[in-house]
Amino acid sequence: MKSKDIVLTGDRPTGPLHLGHYVGSLLNRIALQDQYTQYVMIADIQALTDNADNPQKVRDNVMEVMLDYLAVGIDPEKTTFFVQSMIPEIAELTVLYLNLVTVSRLQRNPTVKTEMQQKSFGESVPAGFLMYPVSQAADITFVKATLVPVGEDQLPVIEQTHEIVRSFNRIYGKEIFPEPKALLSQVGRLSGTDGKAKMGKSMGNAIFLSDDEATLKKKVMSMYTDPGHLRVQDPGQVEGNMVFEYLDIFDTNKEKVSELKQQYRHGGLGDVTLKMYLFDVLNALLTPIRQKRMVLAENKEAVLQILLEGTKKVRQVAAQTMQEVRQVMHLNYE
Ligand code: TRP
Repeated sequence: MKSKDIVLTGDRPTGPLHLGHYVGSLLNRIALQDQYTQYVMIADIQALTDNADNPQKVRDNVMEVMLDYLAVGIDPEKTTFFVQSMIPEIAELTVLYLNLVTVSRLQRNPTVKTEMQQKSFGESVPAGFLMYPVSQAADITFVKATLVPVGEDQLPVIEQTHEIVRSFNRIYGKEIFPEPKALLSQVGRLSGTDGKAKMGKSMGNAIFLSDDEATLKKKVMSMYTDPGHLRVQDPGQVEGNMVFEYLDIFDTNKEKVSELKQQYRHGGLGDVTLKMYLFDVLNALLTPIRQKRMVLAENKEAVLQILLEGTKKVRQVAAQTMQEVRQVMHLNYE
């Protein structure tokens, strides 16, 4: 028996998924699908909020992201996949929610602020981008989700969803929407291979689930370690060393990792040897995913069908919710 809780998450299809997604959300979804009714949404409309000039990129990545989902083991028998743009009710609900939110509140949203800086929007931020938390509140609420597994950086967006739900329920006088709870993943954020920031496609510091073996090796070999560790016999720093950060997360052999750390600190363990070890660990994790992905990619039509079937199911949920919303908002004319 599944719990009554309803889980909704999603990703913007702006690139294939990477190891940051894997530890930050994919593992969570694989675990949650057995226990809960789970929806996974491909947020193509949200992806367009900062890619309006590049619809082909978004379109292509819908398939890449679906391949990643299925390859890691999110199971269409247990999880309902759908594509955001095929649920017009989300857009409808967004417009209604926009009246419950002020522009200054949106400008103060820490998630939006950070992303605006990263994308150097300044004053020319697209209005659609500024208000994406409102659209995300619609994503979450139209299925009446009660649990939203997200990374820490998305917490302010969930907080804003709470405010919208509270306003809506208070003004329109019915508890139509539950207040969703955020579910944080165990690994909050994975640093990029350069050690500078969170792993991200646009940062050029990501290891993708779809990277082939040679690419994986090249990326691991160029990872940021300890710049002061020049000769094999020198003592090296473990803290802030990306290879050790990744080993802590991905190597299940904790004893071995602790031995390696000791050896590295003491001196006598070279970066190349250490990186080869990490390569083996990551390659063992990624090889089955890569293989499954390749098989799936041979039949993209079938993958698309999975997405469309899920979307069809979700449409019914959306229609039902909108009917309730129209009624309490006195928008039910027939
Ligand atoms: N904003 C999320 C991200 O960039 C993607 C997303 C869109 C989402 N709608 C959502 C996540 C609803 C959780 C729930 O990662």
